[in-house]
Amino acid sequence: MNDTRLLVKGLTVTLREQPFTPILKDVSFSVGRGTITGIVGGSGSGKTTLALALLGLVPPAMRVKSGEILFEGRDVLGMDAEELRRLRGARISMSFQEPSGAFDPVVTIGAHILAAMAAHNPSAGTLARQKMLDLLALVEVPDPRRVAACYPHELSGGLRQRAMLALALCARPALLVADEPTSSLDVTLQARVMALFRKLRRELGVSIVLIAHDLGMVRRLADETVILSQGRVVGADHAYAKALMAAEEM
Ligand SMILES: Nc1ncnc2c1ncn2[C@@H]1O[C@H](COP(=O)(O)OP(=O)(O)OP(=O)(O)O)[C@@H](O)[C@H]1O
Ligand SMILES: [Mg+2]
Repeated sequence: MNDTRLLVKGLTVTLREQPFTPILKDVSFSVGRGTITGIVGGSGSGKTTLALALLGLVPPAMRVKSGEILFEGRDVLGMDAEELRRLRGARISMSFQEPSGAFDPVVTIGAHILAAMAAHNPSAGTLARQKMLDLLALVEVPDPRRVAACYPHELSGGLRQRAMLALALCARPALLVADEPTSSLDVTLQARVMALFRKLRRELGVSIVLIAHDLGMVRRLADETVILSQGRVVGADHAYAKALMAAEEM
């Protein structure tokens, strides 16, 4: 029985205009079923590029030069538009670094989630509204009915982050890619979102790729940690990793 959900092998991504300066260089790691894999690195180290690549969303200015991404044994980089459309949201979903981009300002939170649910499961029918409220409760939104009726700008940063997680989870994906889900939150809220990730893994069996700046936080939560420095995976004995760990121990 193979418990690997995601396998990234030798992924090298370059800018189209500058093919010799890689954004990601020979990146390899794997994500097991129901595990949390942390990706940590400084600003510009390639974390978001890697996250987008996992969903087959390499930015137009970039090109995959070599390597493979296998999700449940299928080659993501070789998928056509229709296969990618079925994969995204349904099997792999992403919560974005910039939550405002995920929401249309004139659509309520509840309507966003209902629309996403309908896109994945048109037969939900009259149960859909209750399922939408259950999903908001799952991500620990305190008053789901009130929050469902809010427009995105009416929510605090922490609630918007949770609403985005609810949106990402609405089709019960096998893999959730969360790009810096807590960077805009204060420390107390960060801890609550981290606890929520543990609960989602436990209750839904979802595998999580968690991207963050903060090595200490990631190491407390993740089963495996991948450290990126200038687009490369570095080992724990690399100078950059040592500096990160020293900073954490201070
Ligand atoms: N569309 C783009 N066109 C050209 N270069 C880009 C583009 N997007 C990102 N880059 C460059 O690719 C590198 C990696 O960027 P990326 O956004 O993946 O880093 P990151 O680790 O997510 O950074 P941060 O922690 O600030 O979010 C950076 O040098 C960035 O300037
Ligand atoms: Mg980023």
